[in-house]
Amino acid sequence: MEVQRVLRMNGGDGETSYANNSTVQERAISKAKTIVEDSAVALYCTTLAKSLGIADMGCSSGANTLLVVSEIIDAIDRKCRHLGCPSPEFRVFLNDLPGNDFNTIFKSLPGFYEKLKRDKGPDFGPCFIAGMPGSFYGRVFPTNSLDFVHSSYSVHWLSQVPPELQKGMGGLLNKGNIYMAKTSHPAVFKAYLEQFERDFFLFLRSRSEEMTYAGRLVITLMGRRSLDPSSGECCYIWELMAQSLMDMVSQGIIEEAKVDSFNLPHYTPSIQELIAVIETEGSFHLDRSEIIEINWDPTNDDDNMLDKFTSGWNVAKIMRAVSESMLASHFGEAIMDDLYKRYGEKVAEHLSMEKTKHINLIISLSKKF
Ligand SMILES: C[S@@+](CC[C@H](N)C(=O)[O-])C[C@H]1O[C@@H](n2cnc3c(N)ncnc32)[C@H](O)[C@@H]1O
Repeated sequence: MEVQRVLRMNGGDGETSYANNSTVQERAISKAKTIVEDSAVALYCTTLAKSLGIADMGCSSGANTLLVVSEIIDAIDRKCRHLGCPSPEFRVFLNDLPGNDFNTIFKSLPGFYEKLKRDKGPDFGPCFIAGMPGSFYGRVFPTNSLDFVHSSYSVHWLSQVPPELQKGMGGLLNKGNIYMAKTSHPAVFKAYLEQFERDFFLFLRSRSEEMTYAGRLVITLMGRRSLDPSSGECCYIWELMAQSLMDMVSQGIIEEAKVDSFNLPHYTPSIQELIAVIETEGSFHLDRSEIIEINWDPTNDDDNMLDKFTSGWNVAKIMRAVSESMLASHFGEAIMDDLYKRYGEKVAEHLSMEKTKHINLIISLSKKF
């Protein structure tokens, strides 16, 4: 699978779009808000810079994209007013893979600028926002050009499916699974971890070259509490997808070999695995880390109890918005409606027995002087 070409969130603003199905990610942004604001303000207080370079890595397209940008700007602007300093100029860069729906973001920028002017008055900014397509597993920005970097729900996507999965056992090392699962061969866990370590190292090394001496970096990503990489808290949501695909195999709708040769470019690390890479790479201090939980169906909580089918369908739509491009390019567009319907039913059955949560890791880093 060529990840740069096939990994993209569903574009536009239709029923299956990411823009309309990103409430899990929105909850993650809201739970990380204080950590992001504290880090952005600490950066400003250290430098009192007149011009700040801010980047969001893996920005996608939807309400979340500019939500994060406005939270960072608001926090710094509030601090400036408190200190009686003029507001800095904001240079904001939105990064994602080239297939991302940047056009939808660009069309919303005039309204965003208008609101900033209205809310903050004539002395604010100015603020300039640009798109920067390219993989964050490598250099995207010029040397020393960024002061604050943010990334939410993106770094758990790998640059490629671990190549070892295609080599072992005639290319069928993870037969019947599409991600790490309870039944996966030990070599599968090793291959996924090593791919994550290589990718995350490259992410940190590239950012450290792009960031100024006092730079700060806040990352939220999906992960796990458990040291066991096959733990249900990170893998079960994909095991249900593999089961849905295998049901379609047993009914002759898709070929078994197609399932056997598909693996996701995804990894859900433990906090210990993250810290090990941060220490090996060596450019950043870990200032703070937190683990947060979000319901698979974030709209189903104690204040709003939904029936299992509504909840299963909600989860299927959320998962469809992020995974359809990859599954459709391998299995074909034609089976997508059927696949996500079956998946929603399996999720519904599972949620009726156990209200399951995504585990997310938040880390706040500062560049070493
Ligand atoms: C689930 S979306 C999260 C978007 C947004 N940050 C949010 O919180 O709603 C993950 C995004 O990461 C992007 N992404 C994945 N791998 C990437 C890479 N190597 N370089 C740049 N962006 C990447 C995807 O294209 C996708 O838009």
